Amino acid sequence: MCGIVAYTGYREAYPIVIKGLKRLEYRGYDSAGIALLNGGLNIYKKKGKVAELEKLLEEKKDELHSHTCMGHTRWATHGEPSDRNAHPHYSNSRGIAIIHNGIIENYEALKKDMQMRGHTFHSDTDSEVFIHLIEDVYENNQCSLEDAVRIALTMVVGAYAIVILSKDHPGQLIAARKGSPLVIGIGKDEFFMASDATPIIEYTNEVVYLNDFEIAIVKNNTLTIKNIEDKISTPYIQKLDLELDSIEKGGYPHFMLKEIFEQPKSITDCLRGRVKSASGHLMLGGIRQYANKLIHADRIIFVGCGTSWHAALVAEYIFEEFTRIPVEVEYASEFRYRNPIIHEGDVVIAISQSGETADTLAAIELAKAKGAIIFGVCNVVGSSIARASHEGAYLHAGPEIGVASTKAFTAQVTVLAMMAIMIAHKKGTITESRYQELLVDLEQLPSKIEKTLQLHKLVETISEEFKNARNFLYLGRGYNFPVALEGALKLKEISYIHAEGYPAAEMKHGPIALIDEEMPVVVIALQDSSYEKIVSNIQEVRARKGRIIAIVTEGEEQIRKIADFVIEVPRISEPLSPIISVIPLQLLSYYIAVMRGCNVDQPRNLAKSVTVE
Ligand code: AGP
Ligand code: GLU
Repeated sequence: MCGIVAYTGYREAYPIVIKGLKRLEYRGYDSAGIALLNGGLNIYKKKGKVAELEKLLEEKKDELHSHTCMGHTRWATHGEPSDRNAHPHYSNSRGIAIIHNGIIENYEALKKDMQMRGHTFHSDTDSEVFIHLIEDVYENNQCSLEDAVRIALTMVVGAYAIVILSKDHPGQLIAARKGSPLVIGIGKDEFFMASDATPIIEYTNEVVYLNDFEIAIVKNNTLTIKNIEDKISTPYIQKLDLELDSIEKGGYPHFMLKEIFEQPKSITDCLRGRVKSASGHLMLGGIRQYANKLIHADRIIFVGCGTSWHAALVAEYIFEEFTRIPVEVEYASEFRYRNPIIHEGDVVIAISQSGETADTLAAIELAKAKGAIIFGVCNVVGSSIARASHEGAYLHAGPEIGVASTKAFTAQVTVLAMMAIMIAHKKGTITESRYQELLVDLEQLPSKIEKTLQLHKLVETISEEFKNARNFLYLGRGYNFPVALEGALKLKEISYIHAEGYPAAEMKHGPIALIDEEMPVVVIALQDSSYEKIVSNIQEVRARKGRIIAIVTEGEEQIRKIADFVIEVPRISEPLSPIISVIPLQLLSYYIAVMRGCNVDQPRNLAKSVTVE
């Protein structure tokens, strides 16, 4: 977590940094701070959102003139959210300052050592030790500051993206990364550094993604990249393919709502060039060299976290049905700390919107070390997981900024469905006519999503009815069991209502005890292969006076008679139905959260990319 931004160039640096921090706030919002060179090296920081810092600095505007500035928005790992734990942190002499994203695992030992050497600490963070260490190396080795940073890097264990600013080196920024992302923007006579490209995009589209163990030094208007062994490399400059519009709210009150309504477009983009039913074409361009590994896999293991893990659960049903390859779905955080058995014919598919989730990244490193071929399914182009995978497929869903994942989920399921259909077709485990039908179904997704979104007023009315509930139960079967989990997660994370997702048939083994006249039960009850069974489950809820909100297929009659509310969604083939049925659940959680006055885009305690374990 944490957002990092830095600028050096000919412009006023503070406005660029503060704007950049707002763009990165999805990564954490426990505190915010900046450091700049305005006659000395000065730090301003404050607990809370970037807006709090901005308010504080409103009266100090005259002090903030500088051509070099760096800023940080924090998601606390070590030390409570507070002014003193906010970044940047000074070195002992206050001559250098650091911003850090990640965790320094050996900070306690290093801190003790530094304290013994006379350093005084002013925060409870792990990060502060880094700058003391750099200063200590700098002073005792009489080397350049960049060398001191490089040497200090060899002494820390953990993950980091850092930027260093020094009072004695105006116009110089030193950055380094291991495990946490860092992008460098190259303008004309100016440089930007940030955790992702969103703070940079309006100034330049030329960027360099720093690799692990690389150090970037901007000085004398030049960028130098070297590695931890002091070997200089030529920066690989990439052109960014990101529109400014796609990272702004575009008239919506929240990013989450914008992203929910964007789904017809994000799925169109996701399908573009990949599916053409008229010619029977289905191709994922990113899967070439290793395609045979996937087609002939003995077993597929999906790894992911949160919503991405839910997409993997849907994929389990789709892959097993179509490809007949055995599938396992693993929480990346569990997988990485077991000693998983991986055979030669196994393939790992890592799913991650951000491509930066630390647990998922570690899971694929482990699987790779055991000889598995890794396919990445990521949204963020050039992200760490995308780069660590052998091959993969991007979602092309556009930037997702709301902390609650919405359009990424539907795009993940779409990409995974395309993968499964492609493999099945190549293997001959589905018939030609089924293949054709599925291509048509895929192409119809955007218009069916559009139709589903038209139900927003109805969902808003239902939300009004249940906004004060204390608990929710979500039930689904088969392909829609993971949708129940996803619906419950959405509600929990943004409205803070306790919710549980369950396979509908499991309800009678425990959760049924929770049902009374106050319990809202959301049931995904489409006319599919589990229809009759789920109608019985609804009856069981009704018999115990639970309040039923049913997501049903359009034209539904039977459930209408027994449910309190029905939301009719367009008919779609069963394996793709989660892409449609999840949409009313996204809207339900959104409206309830707004009605409860919750901060939908920045729910408490959460951050968009969990780049720490
Ligand atoms: C979803 O709404 C969450 N905020 C969260 O569970 C998320 O899906 C998870 O952290 C995984 O993120 P990733 O897809 O970027 O790896
Ligand atoms: N570990 C640092 C802190 O707690 C940075 C946190 C992060 O990157 O998430 O301040």
